[in-house]
Amino acid sequence: MRARIAIFASGDGSNFEAIVSACRSGLWPASECLMGPARPAAGGGAGAARLGVETFAFSARDYASKADYEARIVSLLDERHIDLVCLAGYMRILSSTLLDAWEGRIVNIHPSLLPAFRGADAIGQAMAAGVKVYGVTVHFVTGEVDGGRIIAQRAVHYEGSDREELTAMIHAVEHELYPEAIGRLLGNE
Ligand code: GRF
Repeated sequence: MRARIAIFASGDGSNFEAIVSACRSGLWPASECLMGPARPAAGGGAGAARLGVETFAFSARDYASKADYEARIVSLLDERHIDLVCLAGYMRILSSTLLDAWEGRIVNIHPSLLPAFRGADAIGQAMAAGVKVYGVTVHFVTGEVDGGRIIAQRAVHYEGSDREELTAMIHAVEHELYPEAIGRLLGNE
């Protein structure tokens, strides 16, 4: 049976597109749907429309509390028989409503070699520290920001100072590593 994954994205959506491409290329069998962006145009919303991926846009503002907002997401994940949730540039911190129901089945990608440089602007933090080996981590999501068990990591060697160039290198590695890690989790490797 095909696994069903949900992708939560609120950034540019490049990892979202890489995951969808992996599904479609048969790297591993899964069907996908996208949830998350408060604005349908954000978080890969445009890419989702282009790729024909089913999209659910949620705005926390439409709910009385974060718990209500997450409870709605949990019921939607159940309704859609989702097996794995992949965060891909999802900007909200998950709380216990979602985590208690889904811990162990939510993964994230982070642009550093965790546990170094957790939180926002990991690439900027690493550049400021002068590191010579950057990297990417796929990890389980827990209540501790970027603190869950590590699933996969890959190093990116860079000694220059061009942030754009480095970011592009890191993104290219993300787009390979995330689909590979998801494939392993789904037991299709
Ligand atoms: C990626 O760098 C990812 O590691 C981080 O957020 C960024 C999302 O980029 N969590 P995109 O929206 O997938 O292009």
